[in-house]
Amino acid sequence: MALLIVVGTQWGDEGKGKIIDLLSEFAHVIVRFQGGSNAGHTLVVEGEKFIFHLIPSGILHKGKRSVIGSGVVVDPHVLTDEIDSLKTKGYFQDDSQLLLSEEAHLIFPYHKLIDTGRERNRTREKIGTTGRGIGPAYEDIAARCGIRVIDLLNEKIFRTKLEETLSQKNYYLTHVLQNDSVELEPLFHEYMGYRKRLQKYVTNTSLFLAQQMDEGKNIIFEGAQGSLLDINHGTYPYVTSSNTVAGNACSGSGIGPTKINFVLGVTKAYTTRVGGGPFPTELSDEIGIRLRERGGEYGATTGRPRRCGWFDAVAIKHSIRLNGLGGLAITKLDTLAGLETIKICTAYHVGNDVIDEFPASSELLARCHPIYEEMEGWQEEISGAKEISQLPLAAQNYLKRIEELAQTPIDIISVGAQRNETILLRTIL
Ligand code: IMP
Repeated sequence: MALLIVVGTQWGDEGKGKIIDLLSEFAHVIVRFQGGSNAGHTLVVEGEKFIFHLIPSGILHKGKRSVIGSGVVVDPHVLTDEIDSLKTKGYFQDDSQLLLSEEAHLIFPYHKLIDTGRERNRTREKIGTTGRGIGPAYEDIAARCGIRVIDLLNEKIFRTKLEETLSQKNYYLTHVLQNDSVELEPLFHEYMGYRKRLQKYVTNTSLFLAQQMDEGKNIIFEGAQGSLLDINHGTYPYVTSSNTVAGNACSGSGIGPTKINFVLGVTKAYTTRVGGGPFPTELSDEIGIRLRERGGEYGATTGRPRRCGWFDAVAIKHSIRLNGLGGLAITKLDTLAGLETIKICTAYHVGNDVIDEFPASSELLARCHPIYEEMEGWQEEISGAKEISQLPLAAQNYLKRIEELAQTPIDIISVGAQRNETILLRTIL
């Protein structure tokens, strides 16, 4: 039995979907433990592109079990759409492949209206939320007025809770956000429709995972977003509303921390960010545009252009510590081909000071100027490389320098979107 946590080390969109899909071959179960349909995990299989918002990427592998854990906030509309789309494409023909935690909380249309309404009314820099209702849903969990998947299974309980919550939400929507209210009856019936569709997947997923562990199965915990978007340790308030770091894999799926064997950090060979907030190595010149276009850096959930910049070793060291990373998967190395030189940020200048620790204050981070090391680039396309020795020397040197700065081994190198465009350096599962 081996338990592996895979998390993003930057601001999300590191290419976790592809890495998890790849490793799923060696796993029996793949678990989502936080976030919701703000995530967009993209993978390309035999030329076909898939974007997953809720279902773990492992669903494409026949016979593997995909778990949506209790820490996930579930939009049943998105989930049922995702199920339909997979089934239409010939995948996920066996319903026992998907398990949905009875403890997971549900997202309702009022969460999305509150999310977008708040962003609209915000006078300071916008957070740039995906508008999927994630923050308001996690607020309800903490405020103990959330409605869970298990409530959906009992019509009477569900109706009582919905009536009570909705009256409060409608007051807030109409009086504070000057929005329209949400009607009870159509909402109730819509969710009863989801109950019909989803109840066969609902179970005690913590218990299921314990049984799988007893049977010696390999389990992957699939993080969403990235460590710099973590609600406690990220660039607050420009973060998502859940803990994205590895520690939450345990509480978000109902297992104990003593069982985990390895934590892998997925790291893009450069940096991107969607939404607002400080980003010291951001490039607003033609190199930034080049990275966006070559890397297809547009949001998988919202289609927004991603902000692009150089690799930030200060941020990565922060992530390595937060997650206890044992290894790195470097993704999108191929995007860097064709550049004369490549820069790595090793510290920040703030006024007359030099700092090499990621600051807690977003205001301070916004005043940080990157200190760069410059390395030689390479011109060749590298997607065909099967071994590290087949990479241009400059690309090998770039990876070596990342490893030195991170003091963490690189275990996987991704050189293209396809499954086979990957160099595996070490067996981790
Ligand atoms: P929310 O999670 O929708 O509330 O958005 C909060 C911040 O996290 C915004 O800056 C989003 O752009 C960012 N964000 C949320 N999910 C993702 C993701 O999957 N990838 C990258 N950024 C994300």
